[in-house]
Amino acid sequence: MEHKGFTIWFTGLSGAGKSTLANLVAEELRARGMKVEVLDGDVVRTHLSKGLGFSKEDRDTNIRRIGWVCEVLSRNGVVAIAAAISPYRDVRDEVRARIKDFVEVYVEAPIEVLVERDVKGLYKKALAGEIKNFTGISDPYEPPLNPEVVCNSAAETVNESKAKIMARLVELGYLA
Ligand code: ADX
Repeated sequence: MEHKGFTIWFTGLSGAGKSTLANLVAEELRARGMKVEVLDGDVVRTHLSKGLGFSKEDRDTNIRRIGWVCEVLSRNGVVAIAAAISPYRDVRDEVRARIKDFVEVYVEAPIEVLVERDVKGLYKKALAGEIKNFTGISDPYEPPLNPEVVCNSAAETVNESKAKIMARLVELGYLA
């Protein structure tokens, strides 16, 4: 089935649930016959962005690279799904302006909940000062001002969040 390409951009703190939701939405869109590619920050940093660190400059470079791939995929009829902290509003907006068909999903959760969950054990290290410039602990995160969707992973189940995103895609005309 031919369909329009667009980008779904998940932003939020580490451990908020971006990758989980990105993959669930991807699965659902594929089940509807759409071509989908997921670009996950953790994965991208093992090849396309290998060698980049977590300074503002390196993060911005990472986001511009992911954004560029999303742009290329989107204009070729693919649904590109990005899942990266992408902490800086100006660079997210820069990517949005280039792609245009851009659906920003803010995955939020209180920092206390994320520290408590600590799926990767990184918050513990960041709080102990073993990781410098850790987003939400010792580095900034600028939440989107006008995201198309807000999911709260402390207050909703993943299926509720997924349903919210799917409904918004219909509203925006990306899904029948
Ligand atoms: S981004 O800021 O450039 O968008 P990205 O999503 O690619 O970040 O990578 C974030 C992941 O890198 C985190 O989920 C975590 O596993 C790891 N990480 C390592 N160091 C840091 C740090 N200082 N700040 C945030 N995440 C870090």
